[in-house]
Amino acid sequence: MRTKVAIIGAGPAGLLLGRLLDKAGIETVILERRSQDYVLGRIRAGVLEQGTVELLDKAGVSERLHADGLIHDGVELCFDGDKHRFNFHELIGRTVTVYGQTEVTRDLMQARDASGAKTIYEAENVSLHDFDSDKPKVRYLKDGVEHELACDFIAGCDGYHGVARASVPAGSIRKFERVYPFGWLGILVDRPPVAEELIYAHHERGFALCSMRSPTRSRYYVQVPADEQVQEWSDDRFWDELRRRVDEETADNLVTGPSIEKSIAPLRSFVAEPLRFGRLFLAGDAAHIVPPTGAKGLNLAASDVGALAEAFIAFYAERSSAGIDGYSARVLSRIWKAERFSWWMTSILHTFPDTDAFSRRIQRAEFDYLRSSEAAARSLAENYTGLPM
Ligand code: FAD
Ligand code: PHB
Repeated sequence: MRTKVAIIGAGPAGLLLGRLLDKAGIETVILERRSQDYVLGRIRAGVLEQGTVELLDKAGVSERLHADGLIHDGVELCFDGDKHRFNFHELIGRTVTVYGQTEVTRDLMQARDASGAKTIYEAENVSLHDFDSDKPKVRYLKDGVEHELACDFIAGCDGYHGVARASVPAGSIRKFERVYPFGWLGILVDRPPVAEELIYAHHERGFALCSMRSPTRSRYYVQVPADEQVQEWSDDRFWDELRRRVDEETADNLVTGPSIEKSIAPLRSFVAEPLRFGRLFLAGDAAHIVPPTGAKGLNLAASDVGALAEAFIAFYAERSSAGIDGYSARVLSRIWKAERFSWWMTSILHTFPDTDAFSRRIQRAEFDYLRSSEAAARSLAENYTGLPM
């Protein structure tokens, strides 16, 4: 079997890259380790930047997003019960769209299935070969039979635990990492959201987030220790803890119900450099991880593959390698801006095991500064709603 671009991973990065290339007439094959249903069952991010929405428009997969997505003008930050609304639209004229990653993935999968482009689900033992030559190939097992896929390029869109980054010789890659001593326990519930916009709350007991998927479906998170077991958390225990961490009005208005999903996500910051190794390119979580506090993970994955698609399109249309040569430096500049913002949001909003009285006052001072300085609020708005390339 032969294709132009072999894409490893059918998460949002792999599917969006496939779609953008498909629209440009460039053939791709996607190899995904899991089943289609498993990929669609994962509950993850929920906030899309304007740039991500524009890219999904360009990919021709945004009809449902525009019909069902919720446009939010701002967010609320709450510090020990004091709440302040940041109106991004008023500050800088930009908004965000609340539309679940699961739905983005579903839209992309449907478009791919309709186009006839090939996706191989449940591809086992995927391995990458000869990407330092001009004849790279990928081998995999499907239903016990070994296959080889020859290609011009390999796109590693297989997430943090994938095989693509792990295939690069240790001496050729540098990794920057911070693991946080806590995770987010999240629940999904078929009840109306507690407020019209997202509420990010700092409390001595830990961070909490009130988010949503639709006018009838809510997503809530509380910070828990990194080694916490999800079985330890009954729904009642979750609701009690959430109420303690938010302001009184929010606690009173909370509409609780049985959770339809409950899981713990660890928090990590990670960047690999560079992101190109001969004919192998890394994009999305395979290349970097941000803690979810800045709502940047999915948006970064989208901007990576937007740039990578442009680079491949220029290569095939004009035989120009300028785009592929510049890919790594171009996206890393944006990645580090998102890393900084996500790290900063995490550090002001969470409670750290070693937080002393001084650190708490500094966190409080950050919040007061954001509330009182228009320049600081504008900076928050600019970073949250989208970052320049
Ligand atoms: P992924 O979505 O991870 O997709 C990678 C795909 O590659 C997967 O389908 C995987 O099965 C496949 N794969 C892996 N290994 C192989 C292999 N060897 N062979 C073939 N296929 C392989 N971001 C937020 O902004 N807010 C959140 O609340 C949030 N919650 C998250 C919770 C969890 C548990 C995780 C892991 C991430 C979360 N994120 C969140 C981050 C956001 O979801 C990711 O940034 C986004 O999914 C990145 O997309 P991706 O396509 O790069 O990677
Ligand atoms: C979510 O709705 O899952 C969500 C929203 C905002 C974040 C993180 C997660 O910062």
